This record gives sequence, C-alpha cells and structure tokens, in this order.
Amino acid sequence: MTRLGLTDPVQEARLLARIIETISAGLDLEEILRGIAALITETTETDVCFVYLLDEEGQRLVLGGATPPFHKMAGQVELKMGEGVSGWVAAHGRPAVIVEDKLSDQRYKHIPALGREDLTSMASVPILGKPHHLVGVLNVHTRARREFTDADVQLLGWVAGLIAGAIENARLHRRLAEREEAMERYAERIVLAQETERRRLAGEIHDGISQRVVSLSFHLSAAADAVATAPEVAAREIAEAQALAEAALDEARFAIAGLHPPVLDDLGLAASLETLARSFPQLDVQAEAQPCDLPSHLATAVYRIAQEALQNVAKHAGARSARMRLMTRGDTVILEVQDDGKGFVPAPVSGQPGAAQSRPTQPGPSGYGLPGMRERAELLGGRLEVISYPGQGTLLRLLFPAATPH
Ligand SMILES: Nc1ncnc2c1ncn2[C@@H]1O[C@H](COP(=O)(O)OP(=O)(O)OP(=O)(O)O)[C@@H](O)[C@H]1O
Ligand SMILES: [Mg+2]
Repeated sequence: MTRLGLTDPVQEARLLARIIETISAGLDLEEILRGIAALITETTETDVCFVYLLDEEGQRLVLGGATPPFHKMAGQVELKMGEGVSGWVAAHGRPAVIVEDKLSDQRYKHIPALGREDLTSMASVPILGKPHHLVGVLNVHTRARREFTDADVQLLGWVAGLIAGAIENARLHRRLAEREEAMERYAERIVLAQETERRRLAGEIHDGISQRVVSLSFHLSAAADAVATAPEVAAREIAEAQALAEAALDEARFAIAGLHPPVLDDLGLAASLETLARSFPQLDVQAEAQPCDLPSHLATAVYRIAQEALQNVAKHAGARSARMRLMTRGDTVILEVQDDGKGFVPAPVSGQPGAAQSRPTQPGPSGYGLPGMRERAELLGGRLEVISYPGQGTLLRLLFPAATPH
C-alpha cells in the first residue's frame, strides 16, 4: 500500500513545485482551493479532499473547495467550531485520523449534503498561517481502509502550511476587489442621488420658496402704492408680506434639512438616533444608544442606515414596535434595528463562504434601501446582516470597525 509520507526528496520537490504553480496561478480563491484539493488527492493517493476555511469571526468553518463533485458545495456546507471532525481539529489545533468505523467516533458528524458514507478512512489537519493562527482545515478521505501514518499526517500538515499564506492572500485580494467594486457602485449612486437631490431642491425652490417670494414682492408693491394714500391698506399688505417671508424661510430650512441631518452636528450620534426613533409616530421605537465617539463621516453613515432601516420598518413591516440599539463590542461598532413585524425573505446575496449575508448586490428587486445600506456598510469596512423570516420580524445588524482606515 502506498504511504503518504514523502520519503523521496525528488517526489517532495515535485510536489512543492506543483503547489507553488497552483497557488501562483491566480488569486481566485475557489480555483486555488479546487486545484490544491485535486493535487493533494493525486499526490497522496486519496479519493476526496475537502478544504474548510474559518470565517472572519472565527466562529464557523465553511467549505471553501473540494475535489469534484463536492466542489459544487463550496460555500454551502458549514460547521461550527468544535462540530464534526473538522470542527474538532479546528478547535484543538491538532490533527485527527480515523482509520475505520467513523460513525462510532464521537467527533464524527454526518453531513447529509456531502453524502459520503462510502468513505472509510480520513485524516484531517489544521491549516495554520503565521504566526500560528488558524486559517482552516484540510481533510483527505479514502474509500478503502487506510492506516494514515505520522509521516502522512506530517506531510498533510506541511502542505496545509504552504497553502495557508496563499489562502490569506486570495482572501485579502477578494476583500479589496469587493471594496473597489462597492466604491464604483457608490460613486454611480452618488451621482444619481445628487441628481435626485437637485431635482427635489429645484422643486422645493420653484413651487415653494419662489412662489412665496413672488407673492411677497407683489404685496410689498401694493404697500408702496398705498403708503401715502391709504396707510391702513399698506400696513395690511406689509403684514401679509411678513407672513410670506416667514413661510419662505421655513421652507428654505426644510429644504436644507433634507440635505444633511442637522441634529447630528448639534446632538451627536447617540442622541440623534434617539430623536430619530421618536420621529415615527405610528411606531413605538425603543432606542438605546451608547455614546460613541465616531468621526463625522461614520456617524452620518450610521444615522442614514438607521433612518432607512426604521423607514423600512414603518413602510413594510406592519410592526407594532421596534428596537434600535447602538453599541460597541471591543473595536466593533454595532447598530441593530429589530422589529416584530411580518418579516420577509431577504434577497439572496452571492458572496464568499461564510459571508453569505454580507456582500453588496445590485439594486434590490424592489428598492435601493437595502443595497444602499449594504454599500455604506461595505465602505465603512464592515457588513450588514439581514436576518428575517416571514412571520417572525426582522433584525438588521450593521457591524464595522470603530477605526476605519479611510
Ligand atoms: N423591516 C422589514 N419588514 C418587512 N419587509 C421589509 C423590511 N425591510 C425591507 N423589507 C422588504 O424588503 C424590500 C426591499 O427594501 P428596500 O429598502 O431595499 O426597498 P424599498 O423600501 O421597497 O424602497 P426604497 O428603500 O428604495 O424606498 C421591501 O420592499 C420590503 O418588501
Ligand atoms: Mg427602503
């Protein structure tokens, strides 16, 4: 029977060269992982290889790549830390080998989506990046019974160490590419939003302020004509003009208020959110906002996201009450808006394994609110989670680092 361990230096050099070739071929993570999985099964004469990646929160392992036909399941199979053999390996940072009868191994968990009962033996090693932090887990399986030796496990650990850096680079690259894409979409949206805003302002100036100023000027002319002959008429006309001047001023204030949330400057974010919560008379919104000292562009983004989230609750949820919370956990700022309304099925968001809810997408089927919030979140270096089920209300959560590199 073939042994995995590389006793032959020529074979070892050949494997190393092929791994380097595979990880240098590009920065597409799924492609790299598929290539690596194929290479590993071939070199180690195993039948199936799975590469799980740890998600960014370090909570879940998500299948990132595998040998066919399992590669199709990439991004769709998840294990919690400690769950299954891979979860055990991740949690303990140690390899695991099961030679046979895996069902009786306490660590084993059958994953129906992978339907692989015909696989008998397995070896699983942590993928450790530098300096010794967990990137994922690498598993190989065989149909025939196989004794994996220490040398076999060592070899797998060696390969895992080689691919750790490539995985991290590819992930970083993907994050940057996503940010860049979000920036581009955001720029387009800003231009569109500016146009809409200009039209709104033009409308308000034309229909409101200009009309009042025209009529104000008419009343002042009438007052000027009457001042010598009928002072009481002049006084009435001047009073009318004054009322019109005040109305024009109110309308100008209203038009300006739409451009920038003025309360933010006066009250700061926490109090502004509380004021915002009270501005939905049809909805009982409970607001708890911890004061947090954010730069103004971040505070504006959080305010706008809260505003749109509450507007959505008011417009769509049919909720009786809602709860808005702003808090910090370590270096992460979290805004949550939760309602007890009818809920909905959020549009699926394509994306990286483990971040299925967090990537921006095109304008949603029905509006710009959710995609806009996602893009803002992305620009803050954070993400937006929408957790909603019909009949069970909606929880919208924004998370971003307090110190965003800008
Ligand atoms: N809290 C919620 N409760 C129930 N349904 C919601 C909630 N938030 C969003 N939705 C659903 O998601 C859809 C998309 O929301 P989104 O904010 O993207 O668009 P919109 O509110 O319809 O339009 P716009 O925000 O552009 O004015 C809504 O039309 C609604 O069906
Ligand atoms: Mg909306």
